[in-house]
Amino acid sequence: MSFTPIGDLRQKITIASLKEKKLRREPITCLTAYDYSAARLVDEAQIDVVLVGDSLAQTMLGYENTLSVTIEEMLHHVRAVRRGIKHALLLADMPYGSYHLGSDEAVRNAARFVKEAGAEVVKIEGGEKRADLIRRIIDAEIPVAGHIGLTPQSVNVMGGYRVQGKSLNAIEQLMKDAVALDRAGVACLYLEGIPREVASMITAEVETPTIGIGAGPDCDGQVLVFHDLVNLSFSPPAKFVRHYGDAAAEITRAVQSFRTDVASRQYPSDSESYHLPRETQTALETLLERKRGMRR
Ligand code: KIV
Repeated sequence: MSFTPIGDLRQKITIASLKEKKLRREPITCLTAYDYSAARLVDEAQIDVVLVGDSLAQTMLGYENTLSVTIEEMLHHVRAVRRGIKHALLLADMPYGSYHLGSDEAVRNAARFVKEAGAEVVKIEGGEKRADLIRRIIDAEIPVAGHIGLTPQSVNVMGGYRVQGKSLNAIEQLMKDAVALDRAGVACLYLEGIPREVASMITAEVETPTIGIGAGPDCDGQVLVFHDLVNLSFSPPAKFVRHYGDAAAEITRAVQSFRTDVASRQYPSDSESYHLPRETQTALETLLERKRGMRR
């Protein structure tokens, strides 16, 4: 039995597809999306993985960092993205505080992402110290993505958003983190803000696919934040960001043109207006004429 609608030849991406891509050395593509319209565009552009990142705290909600976003806010966005996706694998970030207070609560929260919002994989930040927790969540039949290197939920511990893994000790720790998460069975491993050389070593060492952001070209795949891709982030871009479009300029141009056209009565035109049917128009004119006659 096939679950793919007739005429729709694209295959559903699963965690097995990511592993196959790594084996075939085919780069994995991943973008964040936070709402229905972006999710549709990203999915229709055949991106493999859509990540509802907790970066939505900044890009969508205007928070200063990712620490304040709540599980309810994340679930709201994951549901919207779920409705926009047909083929891509849907990953969701577990927000800060949703997996730090004990493994029972973490498993319960992970299950909410699957049951209430349709996530296929949940992502958790942190290295070897998260390995046992990750095993517990996987035991509950929920695939988990790891995330090491520059982990934004640790911003206060790191003392800012700094590239990680620059000293020999730090490289050793990152390798231990990667291997521990690989052994725990993560579906894939996000590598953020680490030197290319280190990301390359990790990618060669682990069986799980690595997906890099600010980690150089040797990872098994690449992810960017959607708002960075199209210049909607309102902040100076990081070194690794490439703007593939300028949505800010395009939206500003459209909004300013609308304002000018309304102010000068050029919008809406007659052809952009609804009109009465001819009979109703004739009947209305007759009625108005009769009323005017009675007033005379
Ligand atoms: O929240 C996010 O967008 C992420 C990516 C940067 C990997 O975690």
